[in-house]
Amino acid sequence: MEQGQAGKFTYSLYAVSFHDARGVLSFRAPLEQDLQTVEQVESILKADMSRLLKADLVPVEMIPHDTQRGPDLNLYGLYAWQDLYTPRQLLTLSTFLDLVREAVQTYSTTASQEQVTALALWLAMILDRCADKNSRLSRWDGSYVKVQSASATHSLNLMWNFPELNGATRLWQLSAETVAGDYNKLCGLARHITPQGDNVKESPVDHIDVRDAANLFDIADQSVTAVITDPPYYSAIRYAEIADMYYVWEKRALGAILPDLYMEELCNKELEAIANPGRFRGIKNAAELADRDYEVKMERAFSEYYRVLKDDGVLTVQFNHKDSGAWDILSQTLINAGFEITATWAVNTENPNSIHQAEKNAVNSTVLLVCRKRIGLGAAWWEEIQPKVRRAVMDRLPLLQEAGMKGIDLYLAAFGPALKELSKKWPVRTRDNVDVRPEAALREARSAVVDQRMIQVTEGHYVQIDPVSRYYLIAWDCFLTHEFPFDEARLLALSTGDVSITELRDKYHLLAKKGNDVVLLTPRERVRLGEVKLQAADYPRMVDALHASLALYMDDGIGAARRFFERTNLFTNPDFKQYVELSLKMLPPRTDEHKALVDMLNSDIKLRSTFQMPLFEGIEAETHEQPRLF
Ligand SMILES: C[S@@+](CC[C@H](N)C(=O)[O-])C[C@H]1O[C@@H](n2cnc3c(N)ncnc32)[C@H](O)[C@@H]1O
Repeated sequence: MEQGQAGKFTYSLYAVSFHDARGVLSFRAPLEQDLQTVEQVESILKADMSRLLKADLVPVEMIPHDTQRGPDLNLYGLYAWQDLYTPRQLLTLSTFLDLVREAVQTYSTTASQEQVTALALWLAMILDRCADKNSRLSRWDGSYVKVQSASATHSLNLMWNFPELNGATRLWQLSAETVAGDYNKLCGLARHITPQGDNVKESPVDHIDVRDAANLFDIADQSVTAVITDPPYYSAIRYAEIADMYYVWEKRALGAILPDLYMEELCNKELEAIANPGRFRGIKNAAELADRDYEVKMERAFSEYYRVLKDDGVLTVQFNHKDSGAWDILSQTLINAGFEITATWAVNTENPNSIHQAEKNAVNSTVLLVCRKRIGLGAAWWEEIQPKVRRAVMDRLPLLQEAGMKGIDLYLAAFGPALKELSKKWPVRTRDNVDVRPEAALREARSAVVDQRMIQVTEGHYVQIDPVSRYYLIAWDCFLTHEFPFDEARLLALSTGDVSITELRDKYHLLAKKGNDVVLLTPRERVRLGEVKLQAADYPRMVDALHASLALYMDDGIGAARRFFERTNLFTNPDFKQYVELSLKMLPPRTDEHKALVDMLNSDIKLRSTFQMPLFEGIEAETHEQPRLF
């Protein structure tokens, strides 16, 4: 970083790809001539810079500091948008921009204003795509052998290795093909489908508008049959901050033709409905202000939808976020705006190829909330609603599980029926006259899923498990990974009961904090911390006994594990036996802990015959399912 800030962050060409005589993509080390070309381009750019700047062909705008659209680019010495490109990339893009302007200028002598605007937009979109594919933020994807665009991760990240496409041919050509393909797909969607008897009539959509959802001033009250919205998911993506990277090129290509859209230095972030603490930088409580800002903007948009919808109209909201705080805010705004959630659908949207979803603990499902104007008048008591919420979730869970929902997706899908029950009457208050937020229903939903899962894995038998050990199983079962958001871990602890997240962290050392996440500690880590004793006389917490045996097995083999079981006599403890069996069912099979447990039991006939391993045949291979509606 220091080198970057001192302007010494350089890079060198280390491989050249080419198609060999058979057309197969191959790589070779750079030749002297390649290296000379790179140097030549640097000199050309230097010599030409004042002309390029004068003609406004270089994005010189400064990159705002610390925006959270990814790691702060300023830290690496990237201060202006032009710094995102090597000299060769920058020269290529500035040349394209120059040619775009020239083409538009030439065309405008013979074509109508509408045609000129269409051509300019088309070429600007291709230029955008070129900037996306041809920067120090683009990524070489070795598994698909292709260049991934800078925006593919939904954040702006400087890459230590990056590819460059041949600016003379491939870059423009490929980008033009992508834009044409996307445009065709969009046209396929933008059509009216009107049923006419057994047939359908198709006609093109006559009007597409781009505007702030909170301001639909020219749409009359109660004139719309359906509103379908896919709003920003809380803080998940900084659309406008990311779009700056493209805006600076577009502005130069289109500013003269569409001045109203490109008046500002960078994208307008004021109207954007996302929870963005970056907008409140330097102010105390920036995170809370960002939440409030999102809430107000979403509520304004939902109120507009309420106003324009006919009384029997339908609003469908698509939502996807692993953070239940985001769910609380979204549903509160929906209900406050006058809507009742009348149906919910969980859609499995898992995409194994998507980079931004391939992160740990990603959510693979989206929930569609179907809403109508609330007719039920009057308030309700939470004490009456609470059991109904639980029942609604319990009733829905079998269907969700049948459809393949598990882990965090199951918990999120359970929010739908809970919110449906809650939103029938509003406001909801406790008997002590305290207003209830949707988070109360979400808590109930989470607790219902926990109970249901325990009933399922224990096959309905009552099992005595201490709270720490119970949390360990539930956390694996819910998050399916050892690292997950702190706040969700805290809420899960509230749902499983009797132990707080602080105790789990500081008293029992079951997990540790890592940034905004927590990590479940491994058996060896807990032994190292002194929390799990290998030589203890007895183990009041089942998870400690399990971890002691696993740590011994992992470090010293089956002999050590066997001696441990003989010394502690845990074989004869039915509670421990059941805990091991539940661990086999609830720990994800690909984890080190699960693999070690299976290995340990398999390595010893006595252990194997003591502990039943009911799931061994049933362990499913990880599958990637197609998007599916249910
Ligand atoms: C979840 S995305 C929708 C993605 C879209 N369904 C698609 O498949 O491309 C949310 C979108 O809402 C836009 N947005 C943010 N604030 C807005 C506002 N105030 N009015 C209208 N749209 C807004 C964002 O720019 C983003 O494009």
